[in-house]
Amino acid sequence: MKLFGMLSLSALVVFGLSVPAAAQAPADDPQMKLGKRVYLMCRSCHSTEADGRHKVGPNLHGIFGRKAGTADGFKYSDVVIKSGITWSEETINEWLVKPKNFLPGNKMAFAGVPKEEDRKALIAYLKQETSAK
Ligand code: HEC
Repeated sequence: MKLFGMLSLSALVVFGLSVPAAAQAPADDPQMKLGKRVYLMCRSCHSTEADGRHKVGPNLHGIFGRKAGTADGFKYSDVVIKSGITWSEETINEWLVKPKNFLPGNKMAFAGVPKEEDRKALIAYLKQETSAK
């Protein structure tokens, strides 16, 4: 019995499934949880906090409403700098479907987030994380 309990707990952790509702903080809604999980794909290359360091990709703090290719001190490709894009829910959504198609020649080595539901949750999560102080 005890062993079974431990096993199922570790299965929860391994598969990232939700913990029982009673253990959740009220602000922890399902979309944010999904967004956070999808963001794991971005985290190795991007930070979101104010003054976060650039990694392989630029820091994304304040990305909504910002012109593409303008984070201080990051070396972007010319296609991103010259794109004339302002990042919004819509443009980030299109970018993330398949970055290579949206701005051919950019240097973000990332295939994309194919599922619309995942992108939606990710964008909601990004909005929160990139505007936090
Ligand atoms: C392998 C590293 C890598 C991964 C993974 C990655 N990115 Fe990027 N990202 C980059 C690089 C590099 C650039 C700059 C592209 C350029 O200049 O051509 C970039 C640029 C961006 C930009 C434009 C930034 C600006 O200031 O104009 C956004 C938005 C972005 N990434 C979001 C994401 C999101 C969201 C994810 C996860 C779904 C993600 N990226 C995954 C490396 C990555």
